[in-house]
Amino acid sequence: MKTNEVFKTILNRRSIRKYINREIPDSIIESILDAARWAPSGLNNQPWRFSVIKDAHIKEKLSSLTKYGKIIKNSGTCIAVFYNIPSGYNRDKDLMSIGASIQNILLASESLGIGAVWLGEILNRKEEVNSLLEIEKDNELAAVIALGYPDETPSKNRKSLESLMLKKFGKT
Ligand SMILES: Cc1cc2nc3c(=O)[nH]c(=O)nc-3n(C[C@H](O)[C@H](O)[C@H](O)COP(=O)(O)O)c2cc1C
Repeated sequence: MKTNEVFKTILNRRSIRKYINREIPDSIIESILDAARWAPSGLNNQPWRFSVIKDAHIKEKLSSLTKYGKIIKNSGTCIAVFYNIPSGYNRDKDLMSIGASIQNILLASESLGIGAVWLGEILNRKEEVNSLLEIEKDNELAAVIALGYPDETPSKNRKSLESLMLKKFGKT
């Protein structure tokens, strides 16, 4: 197993759902968004769009749209990630690109000492999120990422590599 900085960040990252009450500086959010926009995308179409929510009143309203609302309410900042449909060329590939962009958000956060969690359940209320954030219909909600300085150090297991392997061809 390799142990360079990238590997450490990948392996140490956990979903963080509890945060201390400390504001995240704008410069850190900007760095995290920069990491997001450098993700790969099919045809380099960059179909992601972002909305940053720091305002407590809007966070409160956003939190009412998911059963994970407490996480949103207690977070320092949320990033809503959207699929910009007019930039798209293939829905499957575009959404995979957006997933890569979200993973960059999670890894950049980890590397900057910020805890983050990818919230997908809120997609059940996509349209209401758009109207709350005043986002036009041609941007479809892909995820909300809650961010904050960590107040927990959760652990998680993974399936063994062996159990994930399908057919093998040739020696490795
Ligand atoms: C597509 C997707 C949707 C998710 N939705 C939620 C969610 O709505 N609420 C939540 O608390 N965690 C959510 N998570 C976080 C997962 O629960 C978490 O990544 C998983 O349990 C593995 O834990 P780890 O991130 O700490 O390694 C989501 C993760 C992904 C990738």
